[in-house]
Amino acid sequence: MNALVTGASSGIGRALSIEFCREGGKVLGVGRSVERLEEIKNAYNNCFDYLVLDLSDVRSVRSVVAEVARRFEVLDVLVNNAGYGLYRNLLDLSIDEIVSMTLVNFVTPLALVNELLPLMRRGSTVVNVITAGVHVLMTKLPLYGATKIALHYASEALRRELRAKGIHLLSVYPGVVRTSFHSRAGLSDVRGGVSPEEVAKKIIKSVKSRKKRVYIPGYLEVARVFLGPHLLALY
Ligand SMILES: NC(=O)c1ccc[n+]([C@@H]2O[C@H](COP(=O)([O-])OP(=O)(O)OC[C@H]3O[C@@H](n4cnc5c(N)ncnc54)[C@H](OP(=O)(O)O)[C@@H]3O)[C@@H](O)[C@H]2O)c1
Repeated sequence: MNALVTGASSGIGRALSIEFCREGGKVLGVGRSVERLEEIKNAYNNCFDYLVLDLSDVRSVRSVVAEVARRFEVLDVLVNNAGYGLYRNLLDLSIDEIVSMTLVNFVTPLALVNELLPLMRRGSTVVNVITAGVHVLMTKLPLYGATKIALHYASEALRRELRAKGIHLLSVYPGVVRTSFHSRAGLSDVRGGVSPEEVAKKIIKSVKSRKKRVYIPGYLEVARVFLGPHLLALY
């Protein structure tokens, strides 16, 4: 199994890259932190390699596509996992901050699907890591919520478009996961949550069973059933 994992340098992407390696796959990881990516490569030399790219730069998409084509005959799994949030009101964000987050969390994932499609075959899978927070109004992370809702909406449409080509799309909706996401966003009071390893295992199981959506932990799916698109404020 050949996989591309964005945001492979830490958290969910790191755990998922390692899990793919344990399953006997080949992984090309993307991130900005050379040291952290090199650390994974040292430990999983036979199956993991990486590209150092800033996904807020749309030109990075072309670099990813060229490298995937050079390394893999076929891409079996494309994981759009890279993403971040900012604990700031919309009115306090600069234009650059709005553009960058929208590019990383929404534009680049869609561009990667479009551009990598020629390398994907019937039976391949696109995995979009969204958030269970799309079913509530995340007032502490408003731009993040907006970009993830956009990805959630696009994923529902894209799944139908990809079906005609025999390509599957899995939407992943984690709740709180113990990664650097919250401290990077500027949120210091987040407690609990599941481990990135648990999320990685659930994603791989869901890819294998061709699930359309997975909530982690599973009980969060009640939010979809009872709240759906109605955004009740979380705080
Ligand atoms: N943690 C949670 O509670 C939670 C809940 C729901 C959904 N999620 C989603 O899960 C995904 C993974 O997040 P995480 O929790 O694992 O957080 P994390 O540990 O902070 O990992 C984020 C990853 O995204 C990469 N990334 C961020 N901006 C990038 C950029 N401009 N260019 C290239 N790579 C970039 C980071 O790479 P570098 O550090 O190398 O730049 C890192 O590998 C995100 O999409 C997030 O929205 C997380």
